[in-house]
Amino acid sequence: MTGPPAQLLVTGGAGFIGSCFVRDVLARGDGTRITVLDKLTYAGNRANLAPVEADPERAARLLFVHGDIADASVVGPLVDEADAVVNFAAESHVDRSILDPEAFLVTGVIGVHVLLEAVRRQDARGRRVRFVQVSTDEVYGSVESGHSLETDALAPRSPYAAAKAAGEQLARSYHVTYGTDVVITRGSNTYGPYQHPEKLIPLFVTNAIDDQPLPLYGDGMQRRDWLFVDDHADGVAAVLDRGESGAAYNVPGDGVERPNRAVTEAVLATLGRPWSLVRSVPDRPGHDRRYALDGTRLRALGWAPRVAFDEGIVRTVRWYEEHRAWWEGRRDTDFRAYYERQYAWRLERSAQA
Ligand code: NAD
Ligand code: TYD
Repeated sequence: MTGPPAQLLVTGGAGFIGSCFVRDVLARGDGTRITVLDKLTYAGNRANLAPVEADPERAARLLFVHGDIADASVVGPLVDEADAVVNFAAESHVDRSILDPEAFLVTGVIGVHVLLEAVRRQDARGRRVRFVQVSTDEVYGSVESGHSLETDALAPRSPYAAAKAAGEQLARSYHVTYGTDVVITRGSNTYGPYQHPEKLIPLFVTNAIDDQPLPLYGDGMQRRDWLFVDDHADGVAAVLDRGESGAAYNVPGDGVERPNRAVTEAVLATLGRPWSLVRSVPDRPGHDRRYALDGTRLRALGWAPRVAFDEGIVRTVRWYEEHRAWWEGRRDTDFRAYYERQYAWRLERSAQA
């Protein structure tokens, strides 16, 4: 693809990373128009697009459609109008996938299939539409040493990761079988503003602000290479623009692996809160010990992460301090029920970390 496409369909564009992608692409001011299709699950939030809607020039280039990627009658006409589809839509929380896997499969497999079929129909009409499947480093499974290459075998170990692996394998099969223009991104653990407060970093930031316990799973020595959300969105944009058809691209973080204990320390230090808030709780079943990505392939497209963790964590913590109304709004009835189910028994069995 040369130059930015004129019209993008961004599915899941009201979520954490998708909304960042939408905000960043529209802020480039290059005329790109975006239609967001989002089901507004508990994780989706139109307020994540408020900065766009507050700017008349950008707002004029954004259309929001409330709907499901698994609904062909909604997807078809939107793909008719699109030059490319960027699919962020997914159920995204590993712990919820352990409690209730089904929705992960419906969106992550059937939903992806519906999108791919709509793209394939355009090909049949002689109109080539690029399909970007936003996948995850979790498809490689737990990596004890070394760094995952895009050519490594996939070995997902949670229902979330298995659904993501199935979705991207299906996308790849369309490329191989029908010649569909598919590219895949596999991003690292992502953090930053607008992330739902169920995920590690925003959960710990918001709980610490409220002097609530921070539930650290197991020994807290699981390691991840954290990726700032704008860097993730940039990586997806680079692959959309310049990725080789049929290829997958890792999107790593700043290259410094951190155990969850170190992430927790950074959150508490930034907030000036004590370690005594941290509780060691029973572990997540099947908890992956480590993810680590080799980013050589994406760097060859000219991408590099810009935000190191030490800077990104401070920006993130400050954002949550300044946006209490946003995250209090996310702690709705659904969240409270989930929190009770996930954490009540764990906190009862917790120990000082
Ligand atoms: P999120 O949960 O914040 O957002 C997902 C969005 O998809 C929400 O707005 C939700 O309403 C929407 N959605 C869910 N099901 C839908 C459906 N059937 N139809 C239409 N919309 C639907 O997730 P996120 O953290 O922004 O992740 C976005 C993508 O990036 C996901 O595909 C995820 O697997 C992937 N990813 C996330 C991370 C991470 O650390 N957060 C890392 C790598 C990859
Ligand atoms: P999470 O943000 O759920 O991302 P992922 O499972 O995709 O890596 O969790 C990040 C890490 O933090 C993971 O090792 C699990 C751990 N964790 C906790 O220790 N306590 C928690 O309450 C949560 C949500 C996560």
